[in-house]
Amino acid sequence: MKTASAVVAIILGPVLVLSGGAPAPADYSAYPCLSYTLACGKTATRKPQAKALEGALNGNAEKGKQLAQARDRGNCLACHVMKGGSQPGTRGPDLSHYGSAGRSDAETYTVVHDMRTRNPETLMPPFGTNEVLSDPDIRDIVAFLQASR
Ligand code: HEC
Repeated sequence: MKTASAVVAIILGPVLVLSGGAPAPADYSAYPCLSYTLACGKTATRKPQAKALEGALNGNAEKGKQLAQARDRGNCLACHVMKGGSQPGTRGPDLSHYGSAGRSDAETYTVVHDMRTRNPETLMPPFGTNEVLSDPDIRDIVAFLQASR
């Protein structure tokens, strides 16, 4: 019986969506989350850290470009258009002319370290707080962003 009603649901699902106007919002609650110890939605996350840039930036823009675009490091291209990058995603703003926006090194450093200090609901991963990128890595990436004009 269970199988039969599932088959009916599979057949009728698209028909109901097509005839009923806007589809119902996606419900992902049945999908497993990545924690074996905490309920979904209650996974432990590190608290936002507002880290200030200490001293002069001293970043290397060419290294920053490599780090930002490496899929196993910054992977910023998953969400941002960047200078010299291919196949970018578009969930974040286009950063290919970031250096023309007149943002300070200090502000840029703090948001790449942890964007949640600006927007607590952001999609952007807290690269510094989560130790995906080190202090020198972030300095190099800030230099790359500032050199993107
Ligand atoms: C999962 C998506 C995602 C990834 C990956 C991501 N970002 Fe973002 N980023 C965003 C979003 C969304 C915003 C817009 C800010 C917000 O969330 O309110 C943003 C904003 C920014 C801003 C501020 C732009 C401005 O004009 O103020 C900078 C700088 C930035 N990201 C840099 C980076 C860098 C560098 C990386 C890689 C190390 C990166 N982002 C990776 C989603 C992402």
